[in-house]
Amino acid sequence: MNVPVLTIDGPSGAGKGTVSRSVAKKLAWHYLDSGSIYRSLAIAVLDESVDLQDIDKIVAIAKNLNLEFECGDELIVKLNKVDITARLPSEATGNTASIIAAYPEVRAVLLQKQKDFQQAPGLVADGRDMGTVVFPSAETKVFLTASAEERASRRYKQLKEKGINANLVRITKEIEARDRRDQQRETAPLKASDDAFYIDSSNLSIDQVIEEVMNLVHNES
Ligand code: C5P
Repeated sequence: MNVPVLTIDGPSGAGKGTVSRSVAKKLAWHYLDSGSIYRSLAIAVLDESVDLQDIDKIVAIAKNLNLEFECGDELIVKLNKVDITARLPSEATGNTASIIAAYPEVRAVLLQKQKDFQQAPGLVADGRDMGTVVFPSAETKVFLTASAEERASRRYKQLKEKGINANLVRITKEIEARDRRDQQRETAPLKASDDAFYIDSSNLSIDQVIEEVMNLVHNES
């Protein structure tokens, strides 16, 4: 049976997570937050104080990555049975994730882990290369973006709400640096698939984006 997939790709802070979770809930489909896989690997790498240039060591850790996802109202992620959910959003985790995600060897190891999420009745997959690499034959593909300033201000508010210390100017610079790294890397760079619907959320509310994505899914099925 062909399990339908909706991919939502785009840069960090465009609202992919909120939109994907909400759409997955409305459709009663599974949800893959692929960024959390890269972030979990980053935590494992940071915890072992691995040199970020040591690709072999990072690949070895990726191969043995013992992750569990519990999808309730909030996504809970466990690494080696330990709940690491609270550590996932930090800037240090995100920046390390973006550095190790640039290694093709690392991406190759994590590819099957992501494909395994394609389970009936359907999957909403959120990331950078969901529509281009991981699920190229997905029925519906969305590329969701917003200006760097808007994304930085959203991330800043999110971190503050979680009680995490944040600095807006630094976040804007880090978002721009991460965009550059994600867009310029050779393997699976961040780019819209030719057959993706492009949505700029800078001037849209989250509810408007969700509605637009739901309409796309219904029109495609
Ligand atoms: O989406 P999120 O900000 O959690 O992703 C963290 C980092 O993981 C990104 O900056 C990107 O470098 C990497 N990533 C990726 N491919 C994905 C998802 C995330 O390279 N599909």
